[in-house]
Amino acid sequence: MNKSYPHISGKLHLTGSSHFIADEIPLPEMLYAKFLFSPVAHANIIELDISEANAFPGVEKVITAADIPGINQIGLVIQDEPLFPEKEIMYIGQPLAMVLAQDEKIAEAAVKLIHLKYEELPPIFEIEEADEKGEWYVPERKIESGDVQKALTESEFILQGITETPTQEHFYLETQRCRAIPGEDGQIFLHTATQSTMEVQEVVSRLLNLPANHIIVEVPRLGGAFGGKERGGTIWATMAALGCFLTHKPVQVLLEREEDMRSTGKRHPFQGRWKVGFDARGKIEALDIELLSNGGAYADLSIAILERAMFHAENAYFIPNVRIRGRACRTNLPPNTAFRGFGAPQAIYIIEYIMEQIAQKLQLDPLKLRELNAYRSGDITPYGQKVMESNFPAIFERLAKNSNYLQLKEEVEQYNALHKDRKQGLGIVPVKFGISFTTTHMNQASALLWIYIDGTASLTTSAVEMGQEVSTKCATVISEILGIPFEHIRVECSNSQRVGNSSPTAASTGTDLNGNASRIAAEKIKSHLLPIAQEMLKNQGIACELEEICFKDGTVYSSDYPEKKIEFKDLIRQAYLSRIPLGAYGYYSTPSLSFDREKGKGSPFHYFVFGAALAQVQIDLLTGEHQILKVYIVHETGNSLNEDIDRGQIEGAFIQSAGWCTCEEIPRNGKGHYRAINPSTYKIPTVRDLPLNIQIEMISSGSQYASIFGSKAIGEPPFIYGLTVWFAIQNAIKSVVPQALLKFPATPEAILLALQREKEFD
Ligand code: MTE
Ligand code: HPA
Ligand code: MOS
Repeated sequence: MNKSYPHISGKLHLTGSSHFIADEIPLPEMLYAKFLFSPVAHANIIELDISEANAFPGVEKVITAADIPGINQIGLVIQDEPLFPEKEIMYIGQPLAMVLAQDEKIAEAAVKLIHLKYEELPPIFEIEEADEKGEWYVPERKIESGDVQKALTESEFILQGITETPTQEHFYLETQRCRAIPGEDGQIFLHTATQSTMEVQEVVSRLLNLPANHIIVEVPRLGGAFGGKERGGTIWATMAALGCFLTHKPVQVLLEREEDMRSTGKRHPFQGRWKVGFDARGKIEALDIELLSNGGAYADLSIAILERAMFHAENAYFIPNVRIRGRACRTNLPPNTAFRGFGAPQAIYIIEYIMEQIAQKLQLDPLKLRELNAYRSGDITPYGQKVMESNFPAIFERLAKNSNYLQLKEEVEQYNALHKDRKQGLGIVPVKFGISFTTTHMNQASALLWIYIDGTASLTTSAVEMGQEVSTKCATVISEILGIPFEHIRVECSNSQRVGNSSPTAASTGTDLNGNASRIAAEKIKSHLLPIAQEMLKNQGIACELEEICFKDGTVYSSDYPEKKIEFKDLIRQAYLSRIPLGAYGYYSTPSLSFDREKGKGSPFHYFVFGAALAQVQIDLLTGEHQILKVYIVHETGNSLNEDIDRGQIEGAFIQSAGWCTCEEIPRNGKGHYRAINPSTYKIPTVRDLPLNIQIEMISSGSQYASIFGSKAIGEPPFIYGLTVWFAIQNAIKSVVPQALLKFPATPEAILLALQREKEFD
């Protein structure tokens, strides 16, 4: 493979010429939407009086649940979420009414004239309370293998605890938005910030009681999503569509940052209640764990997220006796949703916390302990999938070598012995990440490829471009198969008319699914072109078999006579004149996936991504601040389609996760108001928080268990590596206070608090 393909959007982003929804020019008669958001977490609506707002000059219409022509229901997995609540308000920030006006200022002023009377109901915010009251979307799920009870009673050592992870705001640069434009004969065009054109089409069509072919969904590109637009965009797109349907005018819905941060769901907080049994060497015999998540007001994707968490509860470790029970709990917070890792980071943090506890108890080296327990090829996961081609323990060996582990450990110990006010620590975390949507039917994608008469190409796939450069990777596939120069391939935006029934671009499967669909489309066209090329070469005196014909760099030739080339564009013109189809549709579905939810058994993943990371962190005992000194990552990419893009994904995921672990915190007051709803109170990492040094080794396994051209998915697995920062901080603290309890995230306050335990116990 030619490894030097450029990043398609790079040039556009750099010159500020890439197009997002908000870059579209205002349309004549366009109406601007503003919302009345609920000020309470749980209440019954007694009265919602819109008459004054409706009469306000410049207001076109105030819309409530009563105006919905179809079914007031935007839920998909479980149908429990109204667009506007009719009676019961379920969370702070829930939209209750929408004002459409000539401009935003008028709409804002009119929102203040809506009179809401409500009767407060007792809210639930915490996992424990929801769980005690049985507030689950579905009954408990279970995955089990071996005999946990027996193994626990026979274990030499037992530890148990409760470990929690908090929420995280997506902080995509582009907030939620949609533009709806009326078309001919009842059609509605939606320019939407969504990862899922199909979901928006399906939900809008149900809510408006219109056939799906009336709703056209287009996504130019997203200014980041990170899972926050897999479902999160649907409600706002539906609002815009409803406004457009009722007024027959273009409608723009666009959330301000504070509105977005207050109203939209985030990463699920999790609680793990665990008991682990192990022997004196540190070999884990049994793990009994309950995973509970805080799903917020409506089910959204909580059930699938819990399921992925359960599939990652043992992370990279083979444990012979396991019981994993999971319950997703309903609370009165905005419906929590997909966020990079989709439950796996939460579960992996918990098992890695357990590993650290075992290492401390037995005074074992944390790397050795992990190596000892890591999956080997052929081991079976608790849900019954065989782990093929495990790259452990080789990955640990690479990590130890790259970081000069033994020496680094000594250096840290020396540093800590010499410094009173500063301490260092190391954190190590491996990952085994399952690739495929755990909801099996979603593992499908389509591609529509046209070769125009001049030899240039237009490709549309099911995928949405959100910065991960799935476009570059799909174009790479086309270029490799048809030899079309990269600059002659245009990857179009997602559009439900060109490619329908698209699964969300998520679960890190964008390139696996859409790259394969693109491959199939390109191969179809190639199969039509081959006989024409053979004929054209013959006319030049070159007789060759079809298999000998090569497509490369805009030319076509026989492998025996590489100097005698025909131009690709001449071949295309000839094919057109010969009435050969130059457009093709490719469809791909991931083979041999299965999972039985009732039994908790099957092979839900096409393959696993393996890797490990080590971070060296320094903390300041006086201020509680930390600095990430060095990070080593060994990550298995398979035969990477684009190493630069993959490196960007690894670095981005690392720092996004380090932010979750150290500085991103959303406190809540007693009424359930999020206290961090803008960048001045919610701290995401900045360039100054980056590791001083980051060394990434990508290993190409030549794996059979991979996807398009032997590559492996990259989007989410590296998010796990950021956890090393939390564990490194914990170890730095433990060098002073061995029994310290560090909160998550490890903010300066949390670090100082953890250090104070020394005083308490002195
Ligand atoms: N990278 C950028 N720049 N922006 C994003 O929004 N989303 C992440 C990851 N990388 C995201 C990103 C998430 S949550 C997923 S699931 C994958 O990209 C989705 O794209 P892919 O399947 O094409 O990798
Ligand atoms: N990952 C991301 N999104 C999803 C999944 C998944 O496993 N299943 C359903 N939606
Ligand atoms: Mo990613 S959380 O699967 O969009």
